[in-house]
Amino acid sequence: MTLKEEISKEKLPRHVAIIMDGNGRWAKQKGKDRIFGHKSGVAAVREVTESAAEIGIKYLTLYAFSTENWNRPMKEVNALMSLLVYSINAETKTLMKNNVRLLTIGDTSRLPGKVYKKLEETISRTSENKGLSLVLALSYSSRWEILNAVKKLVSEINSGNVDLNQVNENNFANYLSTKEIPDPELLIRTSGEQRISNFLLWQIAYSELYFTDKLWPDFRKEDLYAAVLDFQTRERRFGQISEQVNF
Ligand code: IPE
Ligand code: IPE
Ligand code: MG
Repeated sequence: MTLKEEISKEKLPRHVAIIMDGNGRWAKQKGKDRIFGHKSGVAAVREVTESAAEIGIKYLTLYAFSTENWNRPMKEVNALMSLLVYSINAETKTLMKNNVRLLTIGDTSRLPGKVYKKLEETISRTSENKGLSLVLALSYSSRWEILNAVKKLVSEINSGNVDLNQVNENNFANYLSTKEIPDPELLIRTSGEQRISNFLLWQIAYSELYFTDKLWPDFRKEDLYAAVLDFQTRERRFGQISEQVNF
């Protein structure tokens, strides 16, 4: 049996989130510059998107650019922005063909106008697609997102539209940029780093974490299948005891 065939359809994560890390180190190992690593990472994005759609995952969130990544050398930031426009242009046809809907989370108003426009255009073009939702986290950080949510909520409370006593976990989540996106059941990080780097802090409260040493440009379909299979061996207790969740 192939890894793909071993995956149980009944225990499939609905939402998988990935911290795509290691492009720079991958390039360095090959004696190339970091930007070559980012370019090579696009193939891995294509592979996971395809394989996620093939096995029936409904949401795939990819951490592509963090708020903190704005502090990288200008040359690298500019190259990443150009690569984004180039890749979206090159992939739109495939997104349409595979019924993929594109979404973004993050402070996208900080993106250069050209990137923002291209994203808006593609989001609108793919908005009726009913297959996989591909969520790109761009200029995203979880602390930014939570703080932003609190500010919006407080302003609604102050203007009398919302009653503080009615605020709960469910309606608070509607102020986050992931509103209408279910929490990820599985979070993958490549490159061997075992940290969250300001990603989806609220949403991963009960996610299963999976770390792999593979550098992002080397990540292939089989690596996604291996992560999903590992997820399917986990017992998710949500604070309860084993006997309660295995009835
Ligand atoms: C991930 O690879 C891509 C982005 C953060 C944009 P890195 O660029 O972080 O690569 P490493 O971690 O330096 O190897
Ligand atoms: C996290 O990777 C952000 C993205 C993958 C976009 P980083 O490479 O920026 O994270 P740190 O600096 O190693 O924590
Ligand atoms: Mg990194």
